Amino acid sequence: MRTLVFLAAALLAQADPVLEKVVSHVKSHPTGDVPFSLDITFTSKDTPDLPIGVFDSGIGGLTVLEEILKIDTFHNDSLAPGPDGRPDFENERFIYFGDQANMPYGNYSAENNLPYLRELILKDALFLLGNRHDSTDPASPTPQPKPSVKALVIACNTATAYGLEDLRALIKELNLSIPVVGVVEAGARGLLSAPEDGSVAVFATVGTCSSGAYPKAIQSTRGLAGRPAATITQFGSPALAGVIEGDPAFATSLADQIAADVKSLVDTHRTTHPNGPPLQKIILGCTHFPLAKKDIDSAFATLHSDPAYTPHIAPTLTYVNPAEWTAKELFRALASTRLRHKPGTPFVTEKDLFFLSVPNPQFPGIQLTETGALDHAYKYRRQPGHLDRQDTLNIPMTPEKLPPTSRHLIQSRLPTTWSRLNP
Ligand code: DGL
Repeated sequence: MRTLVFLAAALLAQADPVLEKVVSHVKSHPTGDVPFSLDITFTSKDTPDLPIGVFDSGIGGLTVLEEILKIDTFHNDSLAPGPDGRPDFENERFIYFGDQANMPYGNYSAENNLPYLRELILKDALFLLGNRHDSTDPASPTPQPKPSVKALVIACNTATAYGLEDLRALIKELNLSIPVVGVVEAGARGLLSAPEDGSVAVFATVGTCSSGAYPKAIQSTRGLAGRPAATITQFGSPALAGVIEGDPAFATSLADQIAADVKSLVDTHRTTHPNGPPLQKIILGCTHFPLAKKDIDSAFATLHSDPAYTPHIAPTLTYVNPAEWTAKELFRALASTRLRHKPGTPFVTEKDLFFLSVPNPQFPGIQLTETGALDHAYKYRRQPGHLDRQDTLNIPMTPEKLPPTSRHLIQSRLPTTWSRLNP
């Protein structure tokens, strides 16, 4: 029976045009000689000495990396649960990729272009698994070598929602044994540790909410744990991630944006569940939102003092940061596949590596804004299936390559990551 289910899943994957094109592109370039291809023999060595790949639509996933770098919830030697005073990943190296040129991922669903988003997510993973990155020097654009990775973390809620299953299917198709951890499943499992009373709010991007990934993951995790279904309200903000990042395309202040979003979330809750339990557990389902947790909490407190809203918000809220649970799942995944790096053995890369995508102004027909970003209509109208399209380049991320607001955000709020990015 199980074999039949797997067979059906494999056939389904084959029948999907986005996945099928990517799989056939990778299979027809088995030496990794073109973009988004792999040296399959090299990649399938699954050596514990390789770094761990972490990707996001931009710099937001650095909040997840920060959590991974800092967390101490296991004894590193015995693997027993509990802190031992040493970061759980002290013996690991990381490669981070932020697909900054093609973000926000959260808006592809509203632009009716999920197929292209799904292809982007697969290409992000292929970039990390592959052995080449683009050059920053326009005079010598030859790709440069980079190591592959032994595990993948999708540090983006929207990318997990739309790409986790594709990515697992791709890895299976290529006969690789690479663990893949996504923030949504991890966050849903993390919710099990929160108090049982009250409703759950999923506060995320528009795309993550319209995928329904969180409600699906939450209810199935609860079902497996023998718990009753939860009352869930979702709200997707089209702007908050951009405002937190200081993107000039968003003019609203952080406080105003949060006040408006929190009010819309609670309005959605009281309309859809007028007699339901008050909101008690808030899933910060977008990479950027944990950075604004204090402001989000004070917006809920302000609203709670309004008698019209008091019955719909619990007096004390529990926040779930999926990043924390992702770090724990990654540790378990590496331990169970025996992929943890062994102290004393050499690393494939001594330093963590960081990459980001930038528009490629040389690409024929590319349309850019005055600031050199991809034009909105151009970005969202691209069609999948053209794996030779290189209208963005994946280049090393250095502090100078980041917009000043993002640089400041990392420096002030993600100090561990900043020290790795700027050794
Ligand atoms: N990283 C995305 C997420 O967690 C937010 C930014 C975007 O929309 O690209 O959903």
